[in-house]
Amino acid sequence: MENVFFIDNSILQNSLTKIRDKNLKPSLVRKHLSVIGKILLIEALKNETLELKQVETWFTMDNFPVMNEDDYVIVPILRAGLPMMEGCLEILEDAKVGFLAIKRDEETLESKVYYERLPDLKDKTVIITDPMVATGGSLIKAIEIIKSRNPKKIISLNVIASKEGIKKVSKFKDVLFYIGAVDPILNDKGYIVPGIGDAGDRCFNTL
Ligand code: PRP
Ligand code: URA
Repeated sequence: MENVFFIDNSILQNSLTKIRDKNLKPSLVRKHLSVIGKILLIEALKNETLELKQVETWFTMDNFPVMNEDDYVIVPILRAGLPMMEGCLEILEDAKVGFLAIKRDEETLESKVYYERLPDLKDKTVIITDPMVATGGSLIKAIEIIKSRNPKKIISLNVIASKEGIKKVSKFKDVLFYIGAVDPILNDKGYIVPGIGDAGDRCFNTL
């Protein structure tokens, strides 16, 4: 699985442990998902191609390296991918944003896309944000839609994955996965254990 990267970062793990606490209030669940989104993004984009931009500095007029932020499209999977998107946008201020809303059926665990609003993805670097990869069904749906729009590159930022989920999604060899933790159990209701519970409900106070 050379397209899967497990990010062993102390600040990420510290935020994740806070989220694991079932009593952490929703505003702080969102805040720490945003922090983790930022850390995963920094890791994923640490070796991007830079271009030169002329800058009037305090003393001189010179060229300095910049990213072409317009080439990046962040795609949060609603609902739970939204706080990670916020974190990414704090870094890539001029990135574009597209939306995919995907919901798992609680009984069949099958994921359905119920809203889609994506900008032109052709030749863009698309960054998917979704905290949980459980069965992998939702992420696979998202990747299939995004791939059909011919992007240059797809990166998926995920906080916790199950082993089963990673195995399934990593079959997309041209997608890079940046993951904060792998938890041991995917229970018979499709929840990751210990995990963080239902990420969307935890974020938006709908338990
Ligand atoms: C959660 C999570 C993922 C999905 C993962 O979304 O945010 O998108 O489950 O499960 P899977 O790998 O088995 O598909 P959910 O369907 O609960 O929607 P929500 O974010 O609106 O709560
Ligand atoms: N979706 C979640 O939000 N949490 C899980 O544990 C599994 C799927």
